[in-house]
Amino acid sequence: MLKSNIEKALNEQINKELFSSYLYLSMGNYFESINLSGFAGWMRLQSQEEYQHAMKILNYVNQKGGRVVLQQIADPKIDWESVVSVFEDTYEHEKMISGSINDIVDLSLGEKDYATHTFLQWFVNEQVEEEATALKILEDVKMIGDYKAGLFMMDRELGQRAPETEEA
Ligand code: FEO
Repeated sequence: MLKSNIEKALNEQINKELFSSYLYLSMGNYFESINLSGFAGWMRLQSQEEYQHAMKILNYVNQKGGRVVLQQIADPKIDWESVVSVFEDTYEHEKMISGSINDIVDLSLGEKDYATHTFLQWFVNEQVEEEATALKILEDVKMIGDYKAGLFMMDRELGQRAPETEEA
């Protein structure tokens, strides 16, 4: 069984992960609109990963005999000023998600819910990677600036990203 406050926090996290999926899908559409199909493909894979994060939590809640309550997903932003601004938003979003995961870790410790605490360690580690990746791309696109050839090369590089094989 899950305590109701833990169940509520996990349900909210499912919503945040689904919103992340929606946001990255929207960023992908923005990249398509400015003919950066490699960046777009990268964002679509990111979106799929976020969906898998949501499923991982959903499966855990079900496994623990909790009740999954799907909530409305907010409209994502659809336009950005530049490639840099997309990755600024991505980095800020991932930091927010890390904070949200950390809050549930705190809650699980306070409630002595060691199973949830252990379950969340995967997300704690994942967030280190997610933040580092977003920051690295942000720094790269800032460095490239308006240099079109650099952007073109980065578009090709990001377009080579392969889907993750890990099961949710
Ligand atoms: Fe599921 Fe990017 O956090």
